[in-house]
Amino acid sequence: MGESTRTPELDFDVYATQTMTANNAAWDEVRTTCPVAWTPHNGGHWVISGYEEVAEAFRDWEVFSSARTDPARSSITISGSRFPLLVPEELDPPAWHGYRRVLAAMLSPQAAERLRPRARYWARTCIDGMIEAGRGELVSELIFPVPAAVTLEWLGFPESDWTTFSHAFHDAAAFPHDTPEYHAAAAATVDVMRRVTEEVEARWSDDRGDGLSAIVHAEVEGERITQEMAERMTFMTIGGGVDTTSALTSAALLHLHQHPEDRARLLAEPDLWDPATEEFLRVYPPARTHARTIAHDTEFAGCPMKAGDRVLLSEISSGRDPDAFPDADRFVIDRFPNRHLAFGAGIHRCPGSHLARITFHEVMHEVLERIPDYRIVDAEVVEYPNWSMIGGWAKLPAEFTPGPRLGD
Ligand code: HEM
Repeated sequence: MGESTRTPELDFDVYATQTMTANNAAWDEVRTTCPVAWTPHNGGHWVISGYEEVAEAFRDWEVFSSARTDPARSSITISGSRFPLLVPEELDPPAWHGYRRVLAAMLSPQAAERLRPRARYWARTCIDGMIEAGRGELVSELIFPVPAAVTLEWLGFPESDWTTFSHAFHDAAAFPHDTPEYHAAAAATVDVMRRVTEEVEARWSDDRGDGLSAIVHAEVEGERITQEMAERMTFMTIGGGVDTTSALTSAALLHLHQHPEDRARLLAEPDLWDPATEEFLRVYPPARTHARTIAHDTEFAGCPMKAGDRVLLSEISSGRDPDAFPDADRFVIDRFPNRHLAFGAGIHRCPGSHLARITFHEVMHEVLERIPDYRIVDAEVVEYPNWSMIGGWAKLPAEFTPGPRLGD
């Protein structure tokens, strides 16, 4: 491959660190040494870690392509995981355009706002399930079920599917690859695909007015969507909607446990929620990296990139760049402006960001209103085993003053 032309070179393996703190430190070292560099690890790839460079690469889809080059392997993870094709994330224009338009309408600010009462309902129901006991495991009893319920109910999947679906996505990220939980998650993904196929087929000639029907009856560039692409878009929407919002909520609840001064300010000054949400996204971005493939030879930030080279863009590192964020390593609850890249940038920027913020707010408000004195049992906290692509927490056991259920 002529690696010698790919300079500067760094010794950086994104999978080498196991904790958030270690992974953040590794990114700080990479960015400080060189914001754009080549690493020989994981098949050899470019690493882009400076804020300006990450933003520019996200926006330049003509050079930094998201399209699959190997049909069996994902293009947007550096490991090339074996996910089904993600639509529209793994398409470039012009193919990307029609599918994105469908999702952008389904997840517009107005459409997302209509789901707020459902997010509130599920947050209240989950807290009802724990509040009398005065203790609960926040990830499995609240943080994780709420975004799953909101997304799967909106799409139109029956409640009997929710646990299998949500565990398939969450456990694949939350457990190490040699555990029974991980293997069960991998097996469950096959069930998810089977159920997606069944529900897409059931709506083919029956518009039920739900999210799945909107996908199944969509027109893409003047033609009815194919069944295969409807299934892939559904899979992408479930994957996008389920584990990312929960990772953000876990981060925020742990942060407020560790920083009582921030909890007190949010309780006293609810107007701080908007800037605080953006700061949680900057400091704890649930999607930490995305990969791309160079479409044609180019020079980027002085580096010679060749067609076919793989590239890793770092949302986490971009948010920690002191040239873009003063006091970048401090959580500043009222930081403004805050142009973080946690939702990406450019054409693939997350269309689910409105729904993500709404669901996050509803869960956080319900917690601070009903169990404001919650305390996380530090010794029992479990982080995700790897922070290379998605970050989050597998377990956050908590205690709080018991209270009454609210019911419906
Ligand atoms: C805090 C929560 C979330 C975060 C941090 C997040 C992050 C991201 C990021 C960084 C991208 C860009 C990926 C790339 O450039 O390759 C993205 C794309 C996407 N997200 Fe999200 N996301 C979140 C929630 C959601 C939700 C709730 C949904 C849907 C229900 C969703 C659906 C999607 C879809 C469909 C795309 C692909 C868009 C395209 O390719 O045009 N996301 N997300």
